Amino acid sequence: MSQLFLSPEHVLQGGYFHPTLRRLQEPDTSIEPHNLMYPIFLLENDDAVQPVASMPNVYRYGINQLMVALKELVAKGLRSILIFGIIEKLEKDPKGTNADSADNPVVKALPRIRAAFPDLLIAVDVCLCPYTSHGHCGVLSPSGAIDHAASVKRIAEVSLTYAKAGAQVVAPSDMMDNRIKAIKDALVANKLQNQVSVLSYSCKFASSMYGPFRDTMKSSPMAGDRKCYQLPPGSAGLAARAAARDVAEGADFLMVKPGLPYLDIVRQTKDRYPAHPLFIYQVSGEYAMICKSGDGAELYSVLMETLTCMRRAGADCIITYFAPLILDIIAEKK
Ligand code: PBG
Ligand code: ZN
Repeated sequence: MSQLFLSPEHVLQGGYFHPTLRRLQEPDTSIEPHNLMYPIFLLENDDAVQPVASMPNVYRYGINQLMVALKELVAKGLRSILIFGIIEKLEKDPKGTNADSADNPVVKALPRIRAAFPDLLIAVDVCLCPYTSHGHCGVLSPSGAIDHAASVKRIAEVSLTYAKAGAQVVAPSDMMDNRIKAIKDALVANKLQNQVSVLSYSCKFASSMYGPFRDTMKSSPMAGDRKCYQLPPGSAGLAARAAARDVAEGADFLMVKPGLPYLDIVRQTKDRYPAHPLFIYQVSGEYAMICKSGDGAELYSVLMETLTCMRRAGADCIITYFAPLILDIIAEKK
């Protein structure tokens, strides 16, 4: 008699047959606008709009076009953006001089974005690779190795310039040791420590999933790779040490990047630092993969399942190129 196998204490299905009950069984996995941060590619030419070939529905904007796009997104509920600057005509040199020059598109755009969207949280990615002639994220010594002191000094200077121009969050993605302390020191020295927070790309791995982003940014290294500063994908131990170091140096927020293949690192980091809001970066390669998962409803459900699992693993905020689509999906559900 099959009935005999149904011992009441082993029956789980009575707890999730109704949609409302299912929500109660998924604590802390809701996706609301404040759980999303939208990466933006900002061009030098103020009036340009360029589609990104490898990422459907992603564009690179000059500031005038970005203002138009942001107006619509903020009206839909967008709460935060992460800006990446791109230069095409300005010169790239070994020190990344144009990362924080007066001509830098991000430096120029920040006051306008702040003024037009007073409720939008504005984060800026801090790195040298979009601005260096060699394409690495730090400054190199004559031997070609990372010049650590020079790199950290530049990263702190660039962070401070963005902070002064109006960034509310600076997000160093360069992976140079000790940069968080250098940035915090610079903010304190300029009395900005209570107006600007530091989102550390603390657990950033040397991933093959950054391809579409590097094409978009034209920021691939000319020679070599980033394995001497980004973490080896198999190392949970280095990720734990990097997060511990960045917490000790005063990071306000931590990050795991890429997202989906690294959910064990998300859980490990959240368990160790429950009081530090944790970001996860659903990177360009993940975006491209999910775009291939189908059309319309099929893609939406793959996407929402992915985000739910990121939240379940412990992510508080998801940096995603899908933010506009997600805002539409959650608005329709309500
Ligand atoms: C560069 C940077 C990268 C990304 C964000 N900042 C690429 C890299 O480190 O090589 C990846 C983002 C993405 O793939 O969506 N500092
Ligand atoms: Zn970089």
